[in-house]
Amino acid sequence: MSDPRTVRVDLGARSYDILIGPGLLSDLGHWLEPVAPKGKIHVVTDENVYGHYSRYLTTLDRDASVTVLPAGEHQKRFEVLQNLLSDMFAEGLDRNDTLMAFGGGVIGDLSGFAASIYKRGCRFVQVPTTLLAQVDSSVGGKTAINVPQGKNLVGAFYQPSLVLADTDVLKTLPDRELKAGYAEVVKYGLLGNRDFFGWLDDNGKKVLSLDPDAVGEAIATSCMMKAAIVAEDEQERGMRALLNLGHTFGHALEAEAGYSNRLLHGEAVSAGMQMAFEYSAAQGLCSKDEARRVEQHLAATGLTRIADVGEWLGDTDALMTHMGQDKKNEGGALTLILARGIGDAFVQKGAAKPDVRNYLKTLI
Ligand code: NAD
Ligand code: GLY
Repeated sequence: MSDPRTVRVDLGARSYDILIGPGLLSDLGHWLEPVAPKGKIHVVTDENVYGHYSRYLTTLDRDASVTVLPAGEHQKRFEVLQNLLSDMFAEGLDRNDTLMAFGGGVIGDLSGFAASIYKRGCRFVQVPTTLLAQVDSSVGGKTAINVPQGKNLVGAFYQPSLVLADTDVLKTLPDRELKAGYAEVVKYGLLGNRDFFGWLDDNGKKVLSLDPDAVGEAIATSCMMKAAIVAEDEQERGMRALLNLGHTFGHALEAEAGYSNRLLHGEAVSAGMQMAFEYSAAQGLCSKDEARRVEQHLAATGLTRIADVGEWLGDTDALMTHMGQDKKNEGGALTLILARGIGDAFVQKGAAKPDVRNYLKTLI
């Protein structure tokens, strides 16, 4: 096996590596050894991932206990968190033992939060199995559950000690989930790396067909960009908000879809990025050609566009209400991530609500 690509997240004493490559799961024990040389490991996973990949847990080289949850966003809730903590107590884990998230962003967010509060924090490693988790949710330490008041509203910043992204597992990921994760890859090009976006224009289809070199390059570049942003602004006081490109518009679409399977998070982000560029162009912040180029890339790679969600967009008031609930807003004013061009996103506080409303009207 060739050496994995390594991306370092530089956070002083809490720095860690992201290892990316095919076949890493065949030797889990070896890769975990430097960060968890001894002690127990408790694995959290979902039924789909366990069904496909439980055999790899034997390569941990030590007794591992496992919590297997049903798949889906609904698991990110207090009751499930409490049951998971009970499993950890039942296994007698101490703070030096390791909680391992083995799954997509749902498993990662829930387990990370459990690790952050179990005995005030135990060792935590992420083994992400979706493209979205490999390029975004497993990196940077955001953990959360959902509450009736909203999505991801209760959580903590808690960094893992290691992220292990085996690109082979993406072969069993449903196409729709793969594309939803690819939208987050495109996001990195759009927010701050024009060359990377150009590379995706040339290689996006190869990434989606899981060409090993292309997928490794796309994940490593995405993780490098996220690692640099997180190292600069771990707790989102400033530039980390750029990672929310497409999310404010996208969350409104997700909320309109009732956070259901009708629209996956990455699909909402995809259409949301198109909206952010179109709105930026309508505001004269970036050229219409740039916005068109974004849409062309989404179309060429089969990603979700506004045209795909147009039928059930709801009304402007509903979308404005959803956008008004975004976590980035301050004192009732709308915060948007907009762009001066591809690779040049910025945070706009106090966005003009009448202008946003007028833009939304053009879509409905
Ligand atoms: P997910 O965890 O629900 O996984 C998607 C589906 O793919 C599930 O059905 C899962 O069982 C299945 N699956 C996972 N790996 C598989 C594999 N290798 N083969 C076959 N099936 C597999 O969803 P997701 O898209 O990974 O994550 C979405 C979650 O991530 C949301 O809760 C979102 O809020 C969160 N998120 C967090 C951050 C962060 O920074 N913490 C960032 C983005 C998203
Ligand atoms: N996914 C956005 C962030 O990690 O900040």
